[in-house]
Amino acid sequence: ADLNLQEIHDFMVKVAKEAADTITSARPTTDAAGNKKNSVDLVTETDQAVEAQISSQLSKAYPTFSFMGEETHKPGDALTTSPTFILDPIDGTTNFVHRASTVAISLGLAVDRVPTIGVIYNPFTRMLYTGIKGQGSYVESALAPGVREKLPLTPPAAFEGLGSCLVAVEWGSDRRANDFKVKSETFTRLAADSAVGGAFVHGLRSYGSAALNLCEVAKGSVDVYWEAGCWAWDVCAGWVILGEAGGKVVDANPGNWKPKVEGRRYLAVRAGEGQDGIVEEFWGHVQGRFE
Ligand code: IPD
Repeated sequence: ADLNLQEIHDFMVKVAKEAADTITSARPTTDAAGNKKNSVDLVTETDQAVEAQISSQLSKAYPTFSFMGEETHKPGDALTTSPTFILDPIDGTTNFVHRASTVAISLGLAVDRVPTIGVIYNPFTRMLYTGIKGQGSYVESALAPGVREKLPLTPPAAFEGLGSCLVAVEWGSDRRANDFKVKSETFTRLAADSAVGGAFVHGLRSYGSAALNLCEVAKGSVDVYWEAGCWAWDVCAGWVILGEAGGKVVDANPGNWKPKVEGRRYLAVRAGEGQDGIVEEFWGHVQGRFE
């Protein structure tokens, strides 16, 4: 059956906004945070409460849709072709437990495994990013409620080369030897004098939320974002928002132009002439391959 994407989008925005108070009223501490696979993969009661709150509202309104959420996902649960809400209740949990405000509810809808609707809401700044496949993406600030600005915010400049780029990267929570080595050696290469065509990148940024990193690329503020180790719930919503802003998502490992939303490795590039050239140039600096 044809889905009413606008209606689903509006509902997703509503549930994300309603869950914001659960996050802002919480008083998390680094001590109270538990961890999942290692000491830097944090989870709090608030992550679980927000996921429960949002997933129950979604399943009441859309009982036939599937759901995939960070806190209830089990190893082996795979994305199917049915419409699936994909939720990260708190993207940026580490920021949240340190009381840093770069935190977002990231709620996507995948249809046929394709990211189709994206809603990213920062409960602290009340900044809302949204996108529907084929219909553009937008940002709305709490300072001007009801005013939606189309993304990217300004007409994208042509790329001049990686040496003029602001690049987002993340250590992520996976610190295994090979992947850690690929990251640290690539970061060094990007930042070192003369490494990138004689001019190192303008800067490396790590906002600590994959969703908000993708929004920065969609806005055009960050030129390139490269990460391995994140999950479908970190990127599904941002993927739609970035794609509708003219950006592109490819694999963090060189050579694959068509990654899957559950592929766990991404290179995201803003809109602009020379986009594919920047992908190739970036891939040329990746030191090794992620497993
Ligand atoms: C994490 C954040 C972080 C990224 C990790 C993600 P979480 O999500 O997006 O920026 O580097 O790969 O797992 O655990 O805060 O929901």
